[in-house]
Amino acid sequence: MKPIRVGLLGIGTVGRGTWDVLQRNASEIRRRAGRPIRITMVADREVAHAKKITGGKVKVTADAMQVVCSPDVDIVVELIGGDRVARTLVMEAIRHGKHVVTANKALLAKHGNAIFSAAQKKGVMVAFEAAVAGGIPVIKALREGLSANRIEWIAGIINGTSNFILSEMRDKGLPFETVLAQAQQKGYAEADPTFDIEGIDAAHKLTIISAIAFGIPMQFEKAYTEGISKLTRKDIEYAEALGYRIKLLGITRRAKKGIELRVHPTLVPASRLIANVEGVMNAVLAKGDAVGATMYYGAGAGSQPTASAVVADLVDVTRLITADPEHRVPHLAFQPDQLSSTPILPMGEVQTSYYLRMRVVDRPGVLADITRILAAARISIGAMVQKEPAEGEAHVDIVLLTHQAIEKNVDTAIARIERLATVVGQVTRIRMEELL
Ligand code: HSE
Repeated sequence: MKPIRVGLLGIGTVGRGTWDVLQRNASEIRRRAGRPIRITMVADREVAHAKKITGGKVKVTADAMQVVCSPDVDIVVELIGGDRVARTLVMEAIRHGKHVVTANKALLAKHGNAIFSAAQKKGVMVAFEAAVAGGIPVIKALREGLSANRIEWIAGIINGTSNFILSEMRDKGLPFETVLAQAQQKGYAEADPTFDIEGIDAAHKLTIISAIAFGIPMQFEKAYTEGISKLTRKDIEYAEALGYRIKLLGITRRAKKGIELRVHPTLVPASRLIANVEGVMNAVLAKGDAVGATMYYGAGAGSQPTASAVVADLVDVTRLITADPEHRVPHLAFQPDQLSSTPILPMGEVQTSYYLRMRVVDRPGVLADITRILAAARISIGAMVQKEPAEGEAHVDIVLLTHQAIEKNVDTAIARIERLATVVGQVTRIRMEELL
């Protein structure tokens, strides 16, 4: 059979990996896909660099538009990132009847609804396994492997850079900036690393996962997003002393009134498998009503792990290319006219447990004032630790773990505690999940 012709947009970290994997495993891939898959055109701003990698075997251009319009390209692989130029190129590729494979989570989280609708009308596929958790086939697992289930919740470590930073800070006591620089050198971090450390990249991925799990449109703008930049070593140590680890989790859960969609540092019992996912590795826990809890683990970033997902999508698209568009796997798992309007819950309505740390004056009645405020807000205490004051210090840390409470009640209680004359500075709040 004639080879499938691929136009590659961007031959940076993941593009290079995609090129290498397709070359190295060409014969195996042909046996799986039923026909050869060949990159025939590459667009990259660094033309000389792209020519060097591809060794003069394919057409190289600086003009990505040439690739998306070319009659000699069947599938466009978008690996340039960002959501402006990439959106134009992907929409143009669809308009020209090309199938698209992308690793671009920001693009999909923000413009996925419009992209999938255009693709549906044109009868082309948009595949995006590489957009979430790098090499882990989590999209396929959720969309196809778990399609018998009513998904209850998903919790994931879906940003390798922040997990790498938290692991290195905890294990080696390295400062935040040193570890971030290492992640950048290794090619894990986003072009703008604030996307990693402020939870934005994780929220992009969570938006995609949530849509697939619950059959809802992408609603990135409604995701609650809090990163790791304000975490202190102190909180990491207190959490450990209480038997927990702090992880940046993306959590989406079906609740009574709607769907939770939140990214934030989270205390997880140290004995859970996910609490022991270290370094740049990613893990996604998904709980279905039939299967129970399942976990997917692997490299969430990096050249060849992400290329593994890109090439798997190329194989999928190649296999499905002749199938009737109405009967292909739907982009968001549910048929496009069956998406639900279940609302995303505002953060105030979320129900979870909390780690609260406050610095107080060490004298009688202080704790009583704090517990009175918590009781009035219907917040029950699960555990409490008061540290000895350091020599010569008048203030001590109190750490409380609460039972399940409603976020807006916790907001009220924190505001009242912070107004007490005996409490110094702000209360640190980290959410906790048992993940059972
Ligand atoms: N910056 C991302 C991460 C890369 O650190 O996980 C993969 O999306």
